[in-house]
Amino acid sequence: MADFQKVIAHAKEYGFVFPSSEIYGTLGATYDYGPYGSELRNNLKQYWWRSMVQMHENIVGLDAAIFMHPKTWKASGHVDAFNDPLIDNKDSKKRYRADVLVEEHIAKIEAKINKDIAKAQKRFGDDFDEAQFRATNPNVTRRQAQIEDIEARLKQVQVDEDLVAFKQLIEDLEIVDPVSGTKNWTDVRQFNLMFNTQLGNIAGEEGKLYLRPETAQGIFVNFLNVQQSARQKIPFGIAQIGKAFRNEIVARQFIFRMREFEQMEMQFFVRPGEEMKWYEYWKETRLKWHKALGLGESNYRFHDHLKLAHYANAAADIEFNFPFGFKELEGIHSRTDFDLGEHQKLSGKKLQYFDPELNDSYVPYVVETSIGLDRLFLAVFSASLQEEALEDGSSRVVLALPPAVAPIKVAILPLVRKDGLPEKAREIFDELKLHQNCYYEEKDSIGKRYRRMDAIGTPYCITIDHQTLEDGTVTIRERDSMQQERVSLETVVNTVNERVDMNSLLRQVK
Ligand code: GAP
Repeated sequence: MADFQKVIAHAKEYGFVFPSSEIYGTLGATYDYGPYGSELRNNLKQYWWRSMVQMHENIVGLDAAIFMHPKTWKASGHVDAFNDPLIDNKDSKKRYRADVLVEEHIAKIEAKINKDIAKAQKRFGDDFDEAQFRATNPNVTRRQAQIEDIEARLKQVQVDEDLVAFKQLIEDLEIVDPVSGTKNWTDVRQFNLMFNTQLGNIAGEEGKLYLRPETAQGIFVNFLNVQQSARQKIPFGIAQIGKAFRNEIVARQFIFRMREFEQMEMQFFVRPGEEMKWYEYWKETRLKWHKALGLGESNYRFHDHLKLAHYANAAADIEFNFPFGFKELEGIHSRTDFDLGEHQKLSGKKLQYFDPELNDSYVPYVVETSIGLDRLFLAVFSASLQEEALEDGSSRVVLALPPAVAPIKVAILPLVRKDGLPEKAREIFDELKLHQNCYYEEKDSIGKRYRRMDAIGTPYCITIDHQTLEDGTVTIRERDSMQQERVSLETVVNTVNERVDMNSLLRQVK
């Protein structure tokens, strides 16, 4: 995997991701997707949408408005409880999330353990037994005990919402500000993450509108509309893709943590008491979906939540090995009947389902899968970016994206700009563009053109040469192996279509 700074630079240079409003000095934690970035994003959305909605008879789609009635956010708990604990360093004037400071401290201890393990592995070679080493090495067991103690204290202060104890934890761990190097901290305070704005025609609190911090609530308030109009029976799901907004205190790590981002969420409505079965089902199903992308199975792991959100009775993250380590990519949450129950109370409207098999009505329980599209983009992009040494001593940068999600599927390249080759190449381009997103290029040497296509992740290049005019064949060059094969013009469209088809991904997850 490429170095993180290289990932960011490559994304900008090749038209994937630009910092927002760059000519004005950029806006923190906000990014724009360029020509290839927007294509990659759309393809990732399609992979998610098709695997959820097209592949499941009992999952249907929704596209709810970003603005919702302000009572929505009171009922959901976001007005009262969607807070992050923040702390300022008085010397650097920098603001941090208190929980992130503690988690980073834990990560440093973990890094020391991993260093000890790597050293021992080197020393003992094939005889090394990691489990035994972890259980018996005094340094490792002492550090592991430290981690467990800190995690327990962190959980306790979060559950108790005890901000004084939170500050004490930071002081006890002797955490220093990475900027000023001092321990001169303010008290820990709660900070609500929702952006708000005001309706033009209603003054005061009544007219206060929030930019949704999650897409899920649009699904909950439409639960009965969707269930009845789409004639769904429990268990069934509602899927939605849309923008969400959070006033993040710590906004860094490129598109990993943004203030405006896109979520792909699915709420699965189930019988009360059956939620844990479905929670386990969706954990496994979502992990399989990620692994089908072929970015490396060891790059994924589950992380069970220590602190449950106000609506959940179980929650886990699927973490991905980003260039800065394992971090949350997707959340799977068992949300109980909290949201529907609270909306029912505050709106005074029944949000119940009549179950014909049980001959009874109930508020369904919900299992949610929630993934940030931008984080998925970063996972796919960073894991695909590789610098490769070639046999002739040169090197190339290749973005080895899964072909089905690549922005451009095939480039059509006449070998030279004369002898009727561009005209023949245009004919092929005009046919292939009916099927796939194609790219036509006749400038520069063929080697340079191949390199440019490698850098934007184009899985196939079709080259039209003089032989094409004689026998109606072209070469297809495959990005990863750089192998070339000759195929006839009659078969070229089908050959490309088969190799870049999204069905190859969907078949693995059906
Ligand atoms: N509806 C549940 C929910 O919103 P969450 O864990 O807060 O749960 C779900 O968010 C996913 O949204 C995360 O796993 C992450 O992929 C993405 N996400 C959350 N905050 C984000 C941010 N500031 N920038 C980019 N993606 C974010």
